[in-house]
Amino acid sequence: EAYVVIMAGGIGSRFWPMSRTHLPKQFLDILNTGKSLIQWTYERFSQFITPDHIFVVTHQQYTGTVREQLPELPVQNIVAEPSRKNTATCIAYISYKILREDPSANIICAPADHLIVDATAFTKVCLEALGFVKNHPALLTLGIKPTRPDTGYGYIQYETEAVSDNVYKVKTFTEKPNRELARTFMESGDFLWNAGIFVWNVKSIVAAFRAHLPEISELFEAEQDKLNTPAEAESIAFIYSQCTNVSIDYGIMEKADNVYVIPANFGWSDLGTWASAYDNLEKDYLDNAVSGKNVVVIDATKCMVSAPHDKLIVLQGLNDFIVIDTPDVLLICRKENEQQIKEYVAEVKRNK
Ligand code: GDD
Ligand code: MG
Repeated sequence: EAYVVIMAGGIGSRFWPMSRTHLPKQFLDILNTGKSLIQWTYERFSQFITPDHIFVVTHQQYTGTVREQLPELPVQNIVAEPSRKNTATCIAYISYKILREDPSANIICAPADHLIVDATAFTKVCLEALGFVKNHPALLTLGIKPTRPDTGYGYIQYETEAVSDNVYKVKTFTEKPNRELARTFMESGDFLWNAGIFVWNVKSIVAAFRAHLPEISELFEAEQDKLNTPAEAESIAFIYSQCTNVSIDYGIMEKADNVYVIPANFGWSDLGTWASAYDNLEKDYLDNAVSGKNVVVIDATKCMVSAPHDKLIVLQGLNDFIVIDTPDVLLICRKENEQQIKEYVAEVKRNK
């Protein structure tokens, strides 16, 4: 049977200062659509997966917010993590839990915080992917045609011949390359971005953990019979205290040789950074994306401005800048340096 796991434990630090530790971007309505990103994600999957097969895995700090935002989701499907150990650990946890219930489960693991424009096309691709992994021991991911040499994504190079309808074998998977490499990949034209939406049979992902991250799978296997029992929380607290912090991309996707991709085109954006939000917002005639009640822009181009408060903001002569005003923080940063916002936040915390 088919399951969906929505990963919702990140802190969205590159979206600072709008995204904050206590309310990260998956719970925000970044583009002013009337629903938060996780609400849209849930709605997309509930079109073709029953609610009791949809799980949300998140840090225990956010379980209350998930309950509030997704009242239709059965509460026992909100899975709380005691600490942040990144996506590999999150996926191991939920995979071992599902394995105990349904050893032949086919699972879609998806981020909570993406923008997908065409939900019908998205459903179609997900069903194709589920159909493929049912009969192949594959780690399948969805690929998106890159539009800029972004260093925040995984890059996928794939074989030219399809192995089945729309499915291609992956030759190389490179997580978050440096700028130069990202440019080379993009210019070569035969790379895709990893959308971070993974589809596999539970047996395939467990086998991949055993092969590439045995230090994680051994911890879960030793405690396996406690999962889905009253002893689970205590056992998970122990496992998480021992687990390494690694993403599924570095830990498994870069290493495995049974990785496949479906090139997809459903209007996708990882609203990962301000520049990606900028790409998805309407622009004025000088290519500024300005949202705010009280913003005056003079001789500025390609700026991303968000100032949803009463304060008057006057901007002059800036090109390619991000200007984000929140009640207690104002950020002014070059767009090209936005990957470093994480570091600026760390710096701010150190100096406070
Ligand atoms: N439960 C849980 N626990 N969720 C987590 C954790 C965790 O410790 N860490 C991150 N997440 C969630 C985030 O909330 C997000 O929804 C998703 O997992 C992916 O994590 P990100 O931190 O946003 O990853 P990324 O954007 O840097 O990179 C991934 O996504 C890109 C596309 O958006 C990679 O898969 C890249 O290869 C990919 O291109
Ligand atoms: Mg992301």
